[in-house]
Amino acid sequence: MSEQVIVITGSAGEIGSMLRHALRRPGRRLVLIDIADQPAVEPDENAAVVSASVSDVEAMTQACAGADAIVHMASLLDGATWTQYVDVNINGTYAVLEAARRNNIGRVVYASSHHAVGFNPKTDTEAPDYMFPRPDSYYGVAKVASEALGSLYHDRHGIDFIALRIASYRARPDDRRALSNWLSPDDTVRAVEASLSAPAPGFRVVWGVSNNSRRWMSLEEARAIGFEPQDDAEHWAEQVMASTSPDDPGAQWDHMLGGKFTADGFDEAGRS
Ligand SMILES: NC(=O)c1ccc[n+]([C@@H]2O[C@H](COP(=O)([O-])OP(=O)(O)OC[C@H]3O[C@@H](n4cnc5c(N)ncnc54)[C@H](O)[C@@H]3O)[C@@H](O)[C@H]2O)c1
Repeated sequence: MSEQVIVITGSAGEIGSMLRHALRRPGRRLVLIDIADQPAVEPDENAAVVSASVSDVEAMTQACAGADAIVHMASLLDGATWTQYVDVNINGTYAVLEAARRNNIGRVVYASSHHAVGFNPKTDTEAPDYMFPRPDSYYGVAKVASEALGSLYHDRHGIDFIALRIASYRARPDDRRALSNWLSPDDTVRAVEASLSAPAPGFRVVWGVSNNSRRWMSLEEARAIGFEPQDDAEHWAEQVMASTSPDDPGAQWDHMLGGKFTADGFDEAGRS
């Protein structure tokens, strides 16, 4: 059987560097793309490190040649300008999809965000996977645009595209809001592995959240692609409640999906 090749963009980042280790498998080679410096490949690591911008279509096409799937994590987070978000977060997804199309790569797993739907208020029912976009920031707009590009490349070119709307990735929940929207590192790996192996998923929007007792996001599409989260933030609830205040901005703005990004004190660039 031939080796499986998985590209990870943003592999120097918090989630990307965790995936670099956690996605190691016998018979699998990782191609690790980031514009930032990355640790050299270890002797027992079947990987290649590539220094390139995710927005560079030619570089991405070259780096992704021969790959089976792309896990697209590269992104600017909060505080960038509109132009920077367009350059990296929207054009970057375009370049990833073009690289996939040109190389006949059938699957892209994309790190979307709850900020794509942040201005939706929390209700008594679970937030559905295909909740209509109401971005809370330029960052959220770029996530929506990237999901739309994934939808287009699926319908035009048959590329499977799974948008994981990650809520809050952390090593462990450290504030009150995270008790409901935490995504654990192990569940992140489960979500990515399920997205890579689901048979013919097509275009999907899936909440990236752990199975928290206080969760308000649907796990319907997660389960439909074989992602069964195992972790529950409740394990840390006592500790979190004792060490945090109900007045922190996350807790105060917990009635909105985007949390504090929807607060009056925040601008479109996600700056307070
Ligand atoms: N951390 C969270 O809670 C969270 C929540 C929702 C969505 N996400 C998404 O998950 C993904 C990973 O998040 P993270 O927390 O690891 O972020 P991070 O900032 O730690 O990592 C992002 C990586 O992207 C790289 N990058 C930036 N511009 C680039 C470019 N032009 N070319 C190549 N690489 C570039 C950065 O160097 C960095 O290593 C992002 O897409 C983010 O939007 C994260």
